[in-house]
Amino acid sequence: MAWRLTVAFMVAACVAHAGATNPGFVVRVTSKGLDYARQVGVTILQKELSTIKLPDFSGTFHIKHLGKGHYSFHDLLIRQFLLPSSQIVPVPNASLKLSISNGFIQLDGQWQAKKSFIKDHGSFDLKVEGLSVTVSLALGSDGSGRPTISTTSCSNHIANVRVHISGKASWLLDLFHKKIEAEFRNVMEGKICSIVSESIKTKLQPSLQTLPVTAKIDHIAGIDYSLVGPPTATAESIDVNLKGEFFDLAHRSPVPFSPPAVAFPVDHNLMLYCGVSDYFFNTASFVYQAAGALIFNVTDDMIPKDFQMRLNTSTFGTLIPQVQKMFPNMLMKLMMSSPSAPFLKITPGNLTVTPTLDIQAFALLPNSSLAPLFLLSVTTGVTAKIAVNSTRIIGNLALSRLLMTLKHSDVGTFSVAVLDVAVNYYVSHILLPEINDKLGRGYPLPVLDHLVLTDLILKPQQDFLQLGANVNYG
Ligand SMILES: *[C@@H]1O[C@H](CO)[C@@H](O)[C@H](O)[C@H]1NC(C)=O
Ligand SMILES: *[C@@H]1O[C@H](CO)[C@@H](O)[C@H](O)[C@H]1NC(C)=O
Ligand SMILES: *[C@@H]1O[C@H](CO)[C@@H](O)[C@H](O)[C@H]1NC(C)=O
Ligand SMILES: *[C@@H]1O[C@H](CO)[C@@H](O)[C@H](O)[C@H]1NC(C)=O
Ligand SMILES: *[C@@H]1O[C@H](CO)[C@@H](O)[C@H](O)[C@H]1NC(C)=O
Ligand SMILES: *[C@@H]1O[C@H](CO)[C@@H](O)[C@H](O)[C@H]1NC(C)=O
Repeated sequence: MAWRLTVAFMVAACVAHAGATNPGFVVRVTSKGLDYARQVGVTILQKELSTIKLPDFSGTFHIKHLGKGHYSFHDLLIRQFLLPSSQIVPVPNASLKLSISNGFIQLDGQWQAKKSFIKDHGSFDLKVEGLSVTVSLALGSDGSGRPTISTTSCSNHIANVRVHISGKASWLLDLFHKKIEAEFRNVMEGKICSIVSESIKTKLQPSLQTLPVTAKIDHIAGIDYSLVGPPTATAESIDVNLKGEFFDLAHRSPVPFSPPAVAFPVDHNLMLYCGVSDYFFNTASFVYQAAGALIFNVTDDMIPKDFQMRLNTSTFGTLIPQVQKMFPNMLMKLMMSSPSAPFLKITPGNLTVTPTLDIQAFALLPNSSLAPLFLLSVTTGVTAKIAVNSTRIIGNLALSRLLMTLKHSDVGTFSVAVLDVAVNYYVSHILLPEINDKLGRGYPLPVLDHLVLTDLILKPQQDFLQLGANVNYG
């Protein structure tokens, strides 16, 4: 698990600029976020390092008059591995520097010494003080659009090693403690960076690979959350730029408009900020409209019993007599569709959509074919509300008054005003709840495994929605 948070979270949560392509979804990890990642990462690393298996080692000694002898240390066991202070800083453009200082290790084990007439053994304990480690981590993106992290350099240093040897002949080894301490230091120093690099490679990097680069929404659409370029670092944050684009699962085609730049306000109170561009929402609109999914049919059986405006030609005949004359006693059907993708406009404080809706009315003939009656064009102001919880982004629409015009009629001209009550009802009581039900199920946010977003805030900015959150690793 080491590190997985550290990087996982930084990478998952970041933004970039990456030249020509603006992202549809930007994740920025602030210093506060990086610091949290560091805490989690170092705690994990500490656990990882305390499982280091140290090899036995041995050497020879030489004493005047006594001659050469042999010693060995075995069953070395780390009792404590503490990394009490550390720091992480982003390094422009795409790396992170982790520095650990004042590390402390305590271990113990057994020793043996042999010199012709002397043969003895005992136990020892060892303290490593002033361990420091400096690691440079490069952030990048791979072919699948997932973030990557790798160690570009690692160095470590041990200020002090103290060995305390007990046993009858410990005086003997005490004579060489300098040499023994130096050997321990070599062994430890050689191991630490390889453990650190290994943890990053086998724990942190795989956790970054849990970023959902595509999220399937339904049988029509998915969201592409792949990185548009490597994460970028500034002195204060790491930015990860994600495509943030809906696409048609069956046949993906290029979107005929581009994402605007996402200009984050300077804000450091939370660990993570996401910029969800209007592009994100508008590609959704585009995909569903192009797939013919923004069509909704209203039939009489969908209308609550207590509403008098039944969808049949005798009821409509009281408003437009021609309908009843031409198609006596038949049920009707309204086909509501969006002739073009409705676009969401995000401004500070406001989210608005001004969709147009075509409503084609039909009479259902006894042989069950449809006879067109008239076609209305309806425009309305829609206020969008968007909310987030820890995993999903959720929408809700509220309508203002409808404006209707008659586009075409097969039953002669009539004043659309007569349809006001009925159409308002069908749109706001049947179509809208249907749409809100879909939007209410929400769309998945790109969150890495083991991360939970808390303290969420949401703020409309110019052309994007700013989402702020703290993160909990669990
Ligand atoms: C970071 O990247 C920018 C643009 O790619 C470049 O102008 C700048 O020199 C880079 N800075 C460093 C420290 O590499
Ligand atoms: C709506 O009705 C039209 C006309 O009968 C039909 O072609 C279409 O498949 C229906 N669409 C849906 C979503 O029910
Ligand atoms: C049409 O609706 C009226 C109620 O307004 C009802 O009495 C009549 O039976 C309905 N006609 C058809 C064909 O369903
Ligand atoms: C939001 O939009 C409404 C209607 O267009 C407008 O009256 C209001 O001033 C807008 N608010 C802001 C903060 O722009
Ligand atoms: C259904 O009836 C109408 C009018 O009676 C006729 O014009 C149409 O061709 C018929 N459709 C089918 C599929 O039989
Ligand atoms: C987030 O919202 C979605 C859609 O309303 C809901 O299904 C999900 O349970 C919610 N998740 C949490 C953690 O509240």
